[in-house]
Amino acid sequence: MALVNPMYFIKKAQECGIAIASFNVHNLETIQAVVEGAAEENCPVIIQTTPGTLKHAGIPYIGAMVKAASEQVDIPIALHVDHCKSFETIMQCIRYGYTSVMIDSAHLPYEENIEMVKKVVECARSVGVAVEGELGRIGGVEEDLTVDEKTASFTVPSQAKDFVEKTGLDTLAVAIGTAHGEYKGVPDLDFERLEKIRELVALPLVLHGASGVPDHQIKASLERGISKINIATELKIPMARAIQEVFKNNPKENDPRNYMGAARSAVKEVVRQKIRLCNGTDFASRL
Ligand code: 13P
Repeated sequence: MALVNPMYFIKKAQECGIAIASFNVHNLETIQAVVEGAAEENCPVIIQTTPGTLKHAGIPYIGAMVKAASEQVDIPIALHVDHCKSFETIMQCIRYGYTSVMIDSAHLPYEENIEMVKKVVECARSVGVAVEGELGRIGGVEEDLTVDEKTASFTVPSQAKDFVEKTGLDTLAVAIGTAHGEYKGVPDLDFERLEKIRELVALPLVLHGASGVPDHQIKASLERGISKINIATELKIPMARAIQEVFKNNPKENDPRNYMGAARSAVKEVVRQKIRLCNGTDFASRL
């Protein structure tokens, strides 16, 4: 299928109490792993790239690879740019086929954040592209983006209502205790805060930093209105381990098809597990 605007399936997921698992990819094999894993679960999926990956691989390469991957299968797939601070990069992504963008202007003073998000919504919506924004700041490290403990802040429910009304966003990422990257201890999500946000804001909510969050907390967040979960680290770790294992067993290995093939299989397994955790199996047949 051609790439689609993810609101086509996120809205339905919200009605059904399902979350769309959204995976950060870095290269051809991770794109294939996500698309094949999602197709085997018969579930729509969002493929996302950070600005760091765009710098590494190039927007035209990612756009072309994801388009080609999407055309091999019958499930709806969206391509999303994650945590993008640059209006120009967002426009370039749209030019190369992205169907969804996240403008990350949460570091700006509140009124400036609103102005920036409004500008992106106006441009993206006019060409049928969805927009995600963030309120509060999710801590941790995601490639070029580092938010230390002092800067991280939780989403304030009343402000979330104001933010959504003033910007016209499609989805809102909430800061309720998750962090990007590996956790030092077990995360403890603030479900009371999530419930208050849900009461005040009708649009689908997004949980970043979902790697390492125990399954029961992911399930509880789905029950309280999370409709998209973002996973990066939990794909990177098995990928690296699979490659390490290949070289441990055969230090002379030099065929990229062998070590990258092992990486692809390991990533695909996690993709399938996460889709099942989000109640996504066979969701494509309910659209
Ligand atoms: P993790 O690396 O913790 O899975 O976070 C991913 C994420 O939120 C991408 O925006």
